[in-house]
Amino acid sequence: STKPVRIAVTGAAGQVSYALLYRIASGEMLGKDQPVILQLLELPNEKAQAALKGVMMELEDCAFPLLYGMEAHSDPTIAFKDTEYALLVGSRPRGPGMERTELLAANAQIFTAQGKALDAVASRNVKVLVVGNPANTNAWIAMQSAPSLPRENFTAMLRLDHNRALSQLAIRMGKPVSLIKYLAVWGNHGSTMYPDYRFASMEGESVKGIINDDAWYKDVFLPTVAKRGAAIIEARGQSSAGSAATAVIDHMRDWVMGTQGRWVTMGVPSNGEYGIPKNVVFGYPVTCSGGKYTVVEGLEFDEFSQDRIERTLAELISEQDAVKHLL
Ligand code: NAI
Repeated sequence: STKPVRIAVTGAAGQVSYALLYRIASGEMLGKDQPVILQLLELPNEKAQAALKGVMMELEDCAFPLLYGMEAHSDPTIAFKDTEYALLVGSRPRGPGMERTELLAANAQIFTAQGKALDAVASRNVKVLVVGNPANTNAWIAMQSAPSLPRENFTAMLRLDHNRALSQLAIRMGKPVSLIKYLAVWGNHGSTMYPDYRFASMEGESVKGIINDDAWYKDVFLPTVAKRGAAIIEARGQSSAGSAATAVIDHMRDWVMGTQGRWVTMGVPSNGEYGIPKNVVFGYPVTCSGGKYTVVEGLEFDEFSQDRIERTLAELISEQDAVKHLL
């Protein structure tokens, strides 16, 4: 369609957005026929707004044919007006000496306000992706704060974990990433997340069988994927941005355009699948088609995987418990 769609991006002057906005404007997310209007939200302070203006100047300088308009905002109730896609990237980072509960509380405030703003002014079909950490719990808060919007439209980003896991398996096998199918990452985008290769296949063969090295899986692969964010910070002096932006593009493009049967990982509100309490925003393997995702059901757990699911669920429940009284 040639009618432009409105895409809201928060934290628009931050480093993930700096790697993301150009790719949205060039058509990588919604396709080369879909014009876009960017509704960019940043904190109201002068420094953030000035940095946002700078990013918009650069976007202008790209002369993207699909970029029909851009707006700078500091108020979510204006930034989210009629938006069909909301990419919630900005969040409160952990400051020096900040306790986990303080961090959760600060983000609860942000995502309550943004959820209410979406509820009030966004398109009734808005597709929401929460990137800002703690992503699953922030998505849960935004969803709870937007009772008039469909619950299933609120998602959290686990795609970076999924992509990291895919690459580590591909490297180990010396094969292209594109040949690996049916990988799942369960649970929280955090250190307890569980990358599960038991169902993965490559050209019809079991990935687990090809690798045939459980010690590598448990002692090398799982910690490598879980600690990858910290390893990037250690190496680069800054947290993942290019890979995070790629994961945003992948998550949204697949949600909108479909996965043709491929599994991808999305954090989505549970409907009780696999015994996860309803509404917990949990990383599940999903397929997408016609603008909707479907959780892959009927997979079986062994003792190890059951234990990993319980651990990551416990982390999510404890995050929820820490902010419940604020909602
Ligand atoms: P950054 O600090 O470079 O940028 C964040 C931006 O958000 C800043 O410009 C800040 O002013 C803005 N911001 C903060 N609160 C805001 C609010 N209430 N409304 C609008 N804007 C607000 O951080 P970076 O590197 O861009 O990361 C963004 C977030 O994404 C972080 O929370 C990070 O932990 C998370 N992240 C999540 C990943 C995932 O896989 N789920 C991967 C990588 C990053």
